Amino acid sequence: MQESLEEIRLSALSGLAACADEKGLDEWKVEFLGRKAGRLSAIMRSVGSLPPAERPKLGAAANVAKDELEAAYEQREATLKRRRLDETIERGHIDVTLPGRRPQIGRLHPVTQTLRDLLAALTDLGFQVAEGPEVETDYYNFEMLRIPRDHPARDMWDTLYLDPENSGYRPLLLRTHTSPNQIRVMERQQPPIRLAIPGKCYRKEATDATHEWQLTQIEGLAIDENITLADLKGTLGELARRMFGAERKIMLRYAYFPFVEPGVEMAVDCFACGGSGCRVCKETGWIEILGAGMVHPEVLAGVGYDPERYTGFAWGLGVERVALLRNNIEDIRLFYANDLRFLEQF
Ligand code: PHE
Repeated sequence: MQESLEEIRLSALSGLAACADEKGLDEWKVEFLGRKAGRLSAIMRSVGSLPPAERPKLGAAANVAKDELEAAYEQREATLKRRRLDETIERGHIDVTLPGRRPQIGRLHPVTQTLRDLLAALTDLGFQVAEGPEVETDYYNFEMLRIPRDHPARDMWDTLYLDPENSGYRPLLLRTHTSPNQIRVMERQQPPIRLAIPGKCYRKEATDATHEWQLTQIEGLAIDENITLADLKGTLGELARRMFGAERKIMLRYAYFPFVEPGVEMAVDCFACGGSGCRVCKETGWIEILGAGMVHPEVLAGVGYDPERYTGFAWGLGVERVALLRNNIEDIRLFYANDLRFLEQF
Protein backbone atom coordinates (compact mmCIF):
# COMPACT_ATOMS: atom_id res chain seq x y z
CA MET A 1 0.00 0.00 0.00
CA GLN A 2 1.20 3.44 -0.85
CA GLU A 3 2.25 5.39 2.24
CA SER A 4 0.20 8.47 2.87
CA LEU A 5 1.36 12.00 2.28
CA GLU A 6 0.85 12.75 5.95
CA GLU A 7 3.11 9.84 6.98
CA ILE A 8 5.87 11.12 4.72
CA ARG A 9 5.47 14.65 6.01
CA LEU A 10 5.74 13.61 9.66
CA SER A 11 8.65 11.28 9.15
CA ALA A 12 10.43 13.98 7.10
CA LEU A 13 10.03 16.65 9.80
CA SER A 14 11.24 14.41 12.62
CA GLY A 15 14.11 13.16 10.43
CA LEU A 16 15.17 16.72 9.76
CA ALA A 17 15.18 17.62 13.43
CA ALA A 18 17.55 14.70 14.00
CA CYS A 19 20.03 15.88 11.35
CA ALA A 20 23.13 17.06 13.13
CA ASP A 21 25.47 17.89 10.26
CA GLU A 22 25.84 18.50 6.54
CA LYS A 23 26.08 14.83 5.71
CA GLY A 24 22.79 14.13 7.51
CA LEU A 25 21.14 17.00 5.67
CA ASP A 26 22.28 15.70 2.27
CA GLU A 27 21.00 12.23 2.99
CA TRP A 28 17.69 13.63 4.21
CA LYS A 29 17.30 15.70 1.05
CA VAL A 30 17.87 12.72 -1.21
CA GLU A 31 15.45 10.56 0.78
CA PHE A 32 12.53 12.99 0.88
CA LEU A 33 12.95 15.61 -1.82
CA GLY A 34 15.05 13.70 -4.35
CA ARG A 35 13.65 14.01 -7.86
CA LYS A 36 14.02 10.37 -8.86
CA ALA A 37 13.95 8.21 -5.73
CA GLY A 38 12.57 10.70 -3.22
CA ARG A 39 9.54 9.63 -1.23
CA LEU A 40 7.60 12.79 -2.08
CA SER A 41 8.30 12.37 -5.80
CA ALA A 42 6.83 8.89 -5.58
CA ILE A 43 3.56 10.43 -4.30
CA MET A 44 3.57 13.03 -7.05
CA ARG A 45 4.14 10.42 -9.71
CA SER A 46 1.23 8.43 -8.29
CA VAL A 47 -1.18 11.35 -8.78
CA GLY A 48 -1.64 10.44 -12.45
CA SER A 49 -2.94 6.99 -11.58
CA LEU A 50 -5.75 8.34 -9.40
CA PRO A 51 -9.29 8.83 -10.60
CA PRO A 52 -9.41 12.28 -12.28
CA ALA A 53 -11.63 13.76 -9.55
CA GLU A 54 -9.13 13.06 -6.82
CA ARG A 55 -6.04 14.24 -8.66
CA PRO A 56 -6.21 18.02 -7.95
CA LYS A 57 -6.64 17.52 -4.23
CA LEU A 58 -3.68 15.20 -3.76
CA GLY A 59 -1.58 17.20 -6.21
CA ALA A 60 -2.18 20.43 -4.34
CA ALA A 61 -1.56 18.80 -0.95
CA ALA A 62 1.72 17.30 -2.22
CA ASN A 63 2.88 20.71 -3.46
CA VAL A 64 2.09 22.31 -0.11
CA ALA A 65 4.01 19.52 1.64
CA LYS A 66 6.94 19.98 -0.74
CA ASP A 67 7.10 23.75 -0.04
CA GLU A 68 6.86 23.12 3.67
CA LEU A 69 9.67 20.55 3.65
CA GLU A 70 11.93 22.72 1.51
CA ALA A 71 11.44 25.66 3.89
CA ALA A 72 12.06 23.38 6.89
CA TYR A 73 15.22 22.13 5.21
CA GLU A 74 16.58 25.63 4.68
CA GLN A 75 15.84 26.59 8.24
CA ARG A 76 17.54 23.51 9.60
CA GLU A 77 20.52 24.13 7.37
CA ALA A 78 20.82 27.72 8.65
CA THR A 79 20.52 26.58 12.26
CA LEU A 80 23.29 24.02 11.86
CA LYS A 81 25.52 26.57 10.11
CA ARG A 82 25.10 29.07 12.92
CA ARG A 83 25.79 26.41 15.52
CA ARG A 84 28.97 25.39 13.74
CA LEU A 85 30.11 29.03 13.65
CA ASP A 86 29.36 29.47 17.34
CA GLU A 87 31.42 26.40 18.15
CA THR A 88 34.33 27.67 16.10
CA ILE A 89 34.25 31.01 17.83
CA GLU A 90 34.00 29.29 21.19
CA ARG A 91 36.99 27.07 20.44
CA GLY A 92 39.13 29.92 19.13
CA HIS A 93 38.17 32.22 21.93
CA ILE A 94 41.06 34.03 23.58
CA ASP A 95 40.85 34.33 27.33
CA VAL A 96 42.97 37.36 28.03
CA THR A 97 42.93 36.64 31.75
CA LEU A 98 44.88 33.36 31.35
CA PRO A 99 48.54 33.65 32.42
CA GLY A 100 50.92 33.74 29.43
CA ARG A 101 53.48 31.09 28.66
CA ARG A 102 56.65 32.06 30.47
CA PRO A 103 59.77 32.21 28.31
CA GLN A 104 62.67 30.35 29.88
CA ILE A 105 64.92 33.03 31.25
CA GLY A 106 68.63 32.35 31.24
CA ARG A 107 70.94 33.37 34.03
CA LEU A 108 74.57 34.14 34.56
CA HIS A 109 76.88 31.20 35.17
CA PRO A 110 78.06 31.11 38.82
CA VAL A 111 81.64 31.68 37.70
CA THR A 112 80.54 34.71 35.66
CA GLN A 113 78.65 36.07 38.67
CA THR A 114 81.73 35.75 40.87
CA LEU A 115 83.95 37.19 38.15
CA ARG A 116 81.69 40.24 37.85
CA ASP A 117 81.63 40.76 41.62
CA LEU A 118 85.41 40.55 41.78
CA LEU A 119 85.85 43.01 38.92
CA ALA A 120 83.30 45.39 40.45
CA ALA A 121 85.25 45.36 43.72
CA LEU A 122 88.54 45.89 41.88
CA THR A 123 87.18 48.79 39.81
CA ASP A 124 86.06 50.32 43.10
CA LEU A 125 89.63 50.03 44.30
CA GLY A 126 90.88 51.93 41.26
CA PHE A 127 91.78 49.13 38.83
CA GLN A 128 90.89 49.28 35.15
CA VAL A 129 89.86 46.12 33.32
CA ALA A 130 91.71 44.88 30.23
CA GLU A 131 91.96 41.60 28.34
CA GLY A 132 94.55 39.62 26.40
CA PRO A 133 94.66 36.65 24.00
CA GLU A 134 93.94 33.06 25.02
CA VAL A 135 96.32 31.74 22.40
CA GLU A 136 99.71 32.95 23.56
CA THR A 137 103.30 32.67 22.55
CA ASP A 138 105.86 30.87 24.64
CA TYR A 139 107.64 34.21 24.73
CA TYR A 140 104.94 36.02 26.72
CA ASN A 141 103.62 33.06 28.69
CA PHE A 142 107.08 31.99 29.90
CA GLU A 143 110.25 33.61 28.65
CA MET A 144 109.50 37.22 29.52
CA LEU A 145 108.38 36.01 32.95
CA ARG A 146 111.79 34.59 33.71
CA ILE A 147 110.84 31.02 32.86
CA PRO A 148 113.32 30.10 30.12
CA ARG A 149 113.08 27.00 27.97
CA ASP A 150 114.27 23.90 29.85
CA HIS A 151 114.00 25.67 33.21
CA PRO A 152 112.51 23.30 35.81
CA ALA A 153 109.98 26.00 36.79
CA ARG A 154 108.08 25.10 33.61
CA ASP A 155 106.88 22.04 35.49
CA MET A 156 104.64 24.36 37.49
CA TRP A 157 102.37 24.67 34.46
CA ASP A 158 101.42 21.63 32.37
CA THR A 159 101.15 23.30 29.03
CA LEU A 160 98.96 22.65 26.00
CA TYR A 161 101.11 23.53 22.98
CA LEU A 162 99.21 24.20 19.79
CA ASP A 163 101.98 23.25 17.41
CA PRO A 164 104.30 20.76 19.12
CA GLU A 165 106.18 20.29 15.82
CA ASN A 166 107.14 23.95 15.75
CA SER A 167 110.57 24.37 17.25
CA GLY A 168 110.71 28.02 16.18
CA TYR A 169 111.42 30.98 18.40
CA ARG A 170 107.87 31.65 19.58
CA PRO A 171 105.78 28.45 19.70
CA LEU A 172 102.04 28.90 20.22
CA LEU A 173 100.25 27.58 23.27
CA LEU A 174 97.06 28.05 25.26
CA ARG A 175 98.01 30.42 28.05
CA THR A 176 98.53 28.61 31.34
CA HIS A 177 97.91 31.78 33.37
CA THR A 178 96.97 35.42 32.78
CA SER A 179 100.47 36.62 33.72
CA PRO A 180 101.64 37.10 30.09
CA ASN A 181 99.40 40.18 30.14
CA GLN A 182 101.72 41.80 32.66
CA ILE A 183 104.31 41.93 29.88
CA ARG A 184 101.83 42.89 27.15
CA VAL A 185 100.55 45.81 29.23
CA MET A 186 103.95 47.08 30.33
CA GLU A 187 105.30 46.91 26.78
CA ARG A 188 102.51 49.25 25.70
CA GLN A 189 102.30 51.78 28.48
CA GLN A 190 104.23 53.60 31.14
CA PRO A 191 103.50 53.66 34.91
CA PRO A 192 101.39 54.37 36.83
CA ILE A 193 99.51 51.13 36.09
CA ARG A 194 96.49 49.70 37.93
CA LEU A 195 95.03 46.87 35.89
CA ALA A 196 92.81 43.83 36.43
CA ILE A 197 92.94 41.32 33.58
CA PRO A 198 90.40 38.48 33.60
CA GLY A 199 90.62 35.49 31.29
CA LYS A 200 90.39 31.77 30.67
CA CYS A 201 93.51 29.69 31.13
CA TYR A 202 94.27 26.09 30.19
CA ARG A 203 96.38 23.38 31.73
CA LYS A 204 97.09 19.85 30.70
CA GLU A 205 96.00 18.39 34.00
CA ALA A 206 94.25 15.33 35.29
CA THR A 207 90.99 16.70 36.70
CA ASP A 208 89.74 16.15 40.23
CA ALA A 209 87.46 17.92 42.70
CA THR A 210 89.77 20.94 42.89
CA HIS A 211 91.50 20.91 39.47
CA GLU A 212 90.10 21.58 36.03
CA TRP A 213 91.97 21.81 32.74
CA GLN A 214 90.16 25.08 32.05
CA LEU A 215 90.16 27.83 34.65
CA THR A 216 89.47 31.53 34.96
CA GLN A 217 92.00 33.88 36.47
CA ILE A 218 92.14 37.55 37.26
CA GLU A 219 95.59 38.98 36.94
CA GLY A 220 96.29 42.13 38.87
CA LEU A 221 99.08 44.55 38.19
CA ALA A 222 100.00 47.78 39.99
CA ILE A 223 103.22 49.60 39.04
CA ASP A 224 104.27 52.99 40.33
CA GLU A 225 106.92 54.76 42.36
CA ASN A 226 107.15 53.64 45.97
CA ILE A 227 104.86 50.64 45.84
CA THR A 228 105.66 48.16 48.59
CA LEU A 229 104.55 44.78 49.85
CA ALA A 230 102.30 46.64 52.31
CA ASP A 231 100.30 47.98 49.35
CA LEU A 232 99.87 44.46 48.06
CA LYS A 233 98.68 43.33 51.45
CA GLY A 234 96.31 46.25 51.89
CA THR A 235 94.78 45.94 48.42
CA LEU A 236 94.26 42.19 48.47
CA GLY A 237 93.04 42.25 52.06
CA GLU A 238 90.38 44.75 51.07
CA LEU A 239 89.40 42.60 48.07
CA ALA A 240 89.06 39.54 50.34
CA ARG A 241 86.91 41.46 52.81
CA ARG A 242 84.63 42.65 50.04
CA MET A 243 84.21 39.10 48.77
CA PHE A 244 84.06 37.17 52.04
CA GLY A 245 83.00 39.63 54.72
CA ALA A 246 84.27 42.71 56.57
CA GLU A 247 85.78 40.82 59.50
CA ARG A 248 88.11 38.63 57.37
CA LYS A 249 91.81 38.45 58.23
CA ILE A 250 94.45 37.62 55.67
CA MET A 251 97.74 35.80 55.84
CA LEU A 252 100.65 35.96 53.44
CA ARG A 253 103.17 33.16 53.31
CA TYR A 254 106.17 32.61 51.15
CA ALA A 255 105.70 31.03 47.73
CA TYR A 256 107.89 30.76 44.66
CA PHE A 257 106.99 32.25 41.28
CA PRO A 258 109.92 33.09 38.98
CA PHE A 259 108.48 36.50 37.99
CA VAL A 260 108.07 37.96 41.49
CA GLU A 261 110.38 38.62 44.41
CA PRO A 262 109.30 38.07 47.06
CA GLY A 263 106.48 35.74 46.06
CA VAL A 264 103.57 35.00 48.36
CA GLU A 265 100.45 32.96 48.63
CA MET A 266 97.51 34.67 50.23
CA ALA A 267 95.05 32.94 52.51
CA VAL A 268 91.88 34.27 54.16
CA ASP A 269 90.73 33.07 57.57
CA CYS A 270 87.91 30.64 56.97
CA PHE A 271 84.57 32.39 56.55
CA ALA A 272 82.75 29.22 57.56
CA CYS A 273 84.37 28.59 60.97
CA GLY A 274 86.13 31.90 61.61
CA GLY A 275 89.49 30.15 61.77
CA SER A 276 88.88 27.39 64.28
CA GLY A 277 89.01 24.67 61.63
CA CYS A 278 86.26 22.93 59.69
CA ARG A 279 85.52 20.90 56.59
CA VAL A 280 85.57 23.94 54.27
CA CYS A 281 89.13 24.94 55.25
CA LYS A 282 90.24 21.32 55.69
CA GLU A 283 90.73 21.94 59.43
CA THR A 284 93.49 24.52 58.83
CA GLY A 285 91.45 27.65 59.57
CA TRP A 286 92.78 29.27 56.36
CA ILE A 287 91.71 29.27 52.73
CA GLU A 288 94.25 30.01 50.00
CA ILE A 289 92.88 32.17 47.24
CA LEU A 290 95.75 33.53 45.22
CA GLY A 291 99.41 33.74 44.32
CA ALA A 292 101.08 37.14 44.27
CA GLY A 293 104.30 39.04 44.78
CA MET A 294 106.42 42.07 44.00
CA VAL A 295 107.17 42.19 40.28
CA HIS A 296 110.73 40.97 39.78
CA PRO A 297 113.19 43.77 38.88
CA GLU A 298 114.41 41.75 35.91
CA VAL A 299 110.85 41.56 34.57
CA LEU A 300 110.58 45.35 34.88
CA ALA A 301 113.93 45.81 33.16
CA GLY A 302 112.85 43.36 30.44
CA VAL A 303 110.09 45.71 29.30
CA GLY A 304 112.32 48.77 29.54
CA TYR A 305 111.19 50.10 32.93
CA ASP A 306 113.79 51.44 35.35
CA PRO A 307 113.65 49.06 38.34
CA GLU A 308 115.40 51.66 40.47
CA ARG A 309 112.50 54.03 39.98
CA TYR A 310 109.48 51.75 39.67
CA THR A 311 108.22 48.90 41.77
CA GLY A 312 104.92 47.10 41.79
CA PHE A 313 102.92 44.06 42.71
CA ALA A 314 101.02 41.45 40.76
CA TRP A 315 98.63 38.66 41.63
CA GLY A 316 96.84 35.82 39.92
CA LEU A 317 93.54 34.80 41.43
CA GLY A 318 91.53 31.65 40.63
CA VAL A 319 87.93 32.72 40.03
CA GLU A 320 86.46 29.18 40.20
CA ARG A 321 88.15 28.83 43.59
CA VAL A 322 86.34 31.87 44.93
CA ALA A 323 83.06 30.75 43.33
CA LEU A 324 83.40 27.33 45.03
CA LEU A 325 83.97 28.93 48.40
CA ARG A 326 81.20 31.49 48.14
CA ASN A 327 78.60 28.97 47.06
CA ASN A 328 79.70 26.03 49.14
CA ILE A 329 80.30 23.79 46.14
CA GLU A 330 82.36 20.67 46.60
CA ASP A 331 83.51 19.78 43.11
CA ILE A 332 85.01 22.27 40.67
CA ARG A 333 84.12 19.99 37.74
CA LEU A 334 80.43 20.84 38.20
CA PHE A 335 81.05 24.29 36.76
CA TYR A 336 81.71 23.05 33.23
CA ALA A 337 79.61 19.87 33.19
CA ASN A 338 76.66 21.79 31.69
CA ASP A 339 74.12 20.15 33.96
CA LEU A 340 71.09 22.47 34.19
CA ARG A 341 70.05 20.97 37.52
CA PHE A 342 73.27 22.40 38.93
CA LEU A 343 73.30 25.68 37.01
CA GLU A 344 69.67 26.57 37.76
CA GLN A 345 70.48 26.86 41.47
CA PHE A 346 72.32 30.13 40.99
N1 PHE B 1 100.52 33.24 37.39
C1 PHE B 1 100.60 32.54 38.64
C2 PHE B 1 99.86 31.21 38.51
O1 PHE B 1 99.00 31.07 37.70
C3 PHE B 1 100.00 33.34 39.77
C4 PHE B 1 100.74 34.63 40.05
C5 PHE B 1 100.43 35.76 39.35
C6 PHE B 1 101.74 34.68 40.99
C7 PHE B 1 101.08 36.96 39.61
C8 PHE B 1 102.41 35.85 41.26
C9 PHE B 1 102.08 36.99 40.58
O2 PHE B 1 100.16 30.27 39.21
